Amino acid sequence: MGRKISTIGVLTSGGDAPGMNAAVRAVVRTATAHGLRVIGVRKGYNGLLDEDYIELDAKSVAEIINRGGTFLYTARSPRFMTEQGQQQGADMCRKHGIEALIVIGGDGSYRGAQKLASLGINTIGVPGTIDLDIACTDYTIGFDTAVNTAMSAIDKVRDTSTSHERCSIIEVMGRHAGYIALSCGIANGAEDILLPEFYDYDEEKLARHIIDTRKKGKRHHIIVNAEGVGHSTSMARRLQAATGVTTRTTVLGYVQRGGSPTARDRVMASMMGSYAVDLILKGARNRIVSWRNGTYVDYDIDEALAMQKEIDSYEIRVSKALCR
Ligand code: ADP
Ligand code: F6P
Repeated sequence: MGRKISTIGVLTSGGDAPGMNAAVRAVVRTATAHGLRVIGVRKGYNGLLDEDYIELDAKSVAEIINRGGTFLYTARSPRFMTEQGQQQGADMCRKHGIEALIVIGGDGSYRGAQKLASLGINTIGVPGTIDLDIACTDYTIGFDTAVNTAMSAIDKVRDTSTSHERCSIIEVMGRHAGYIALSCGIANGAEDILLPEFYDYDEEKLARHIIDTRKKGKRHHIIVNAEGVGHSTSMARRLQAATGVTTRTTVLGYVQRGGSPTARDRVMASMMGSYAVDLILKGARNRIVSWRNGTYVDYDIDEALAMQKEIDSYEIRVSKALCR
């Protein structure tokens, strides 16, 4: 059992993700139920440096579980990338009596948290990113909503693609990872799925596949392309020239980041937010909350950030077998 603490902070950082609000709500309600004071830090690490703080109580997080985005706002903070910024962040925690800071964000936000930890501030990470690209966890808050949003959009593009007998390249987010693309590719029954982890830049093969599916009587050809592969517009031009099939590009962009979180995201966010507070109450230091093999676990922050993640090869095999 660690030293009894009285005040914690919570912030959201990096790209916003649906479910971040539910996570903050869970942090606040669990912490205040145990008599802790909660300081909400607005605008990620920028707000930490600028002392942009608000007091949070159970009532202040009412009406947010169903809302996308983050009511604490978020930011990418170049200032916090510097040693001076990190030292200032740690000083601010001490100045305001923040004895533990819960950071809801992605891999980059964890690297910031790791710096604070090395400066003596207890930091607890909660995975919040649509990209699912955090190595220590099988789930990140926002992924399910983003995939469902993209899936609905791709279904709509497919209607037009079929009606006009076109090929469509639809680019989805994910930064350097292909998790959103792979899930959408399977869920939308795409003819091709391009992943940064495996893309071999073989456009001739793609063109042959478009011609083959046409010969088999397919009226559309949907290619889900991950942002990490990119170049969707120029790819469409080249494929159209090579196949004679009208080929259009749709880049889904930020529609995938916003919107009301799905049930899965609300539940995962609520559980992970509460888990983070439970860790603090138990006296744990510098941990990352994770979902692993169907259960909630936590890892040391250094250990978590040293882990590597690989996209599921079985899912890839299945997706390829179904793209016919
Ligand atoms: P995400 O958390 O979604 O991966 P970013 O990679 O943009 O998003 O990281 C969010 C913020 O975390 C950055 O703007 C920066 O302030 C901080 N951060 C990222 N990497 C580091 C690092 N190596 N050291 C310190 N802070 C970092
Ligand atoms: O991390 C979420 C994400 O939407 C990525 O999929 C994408 O690469 C990136 O953020 C876009 O970042 P920005 O918010 O700076 O446009």
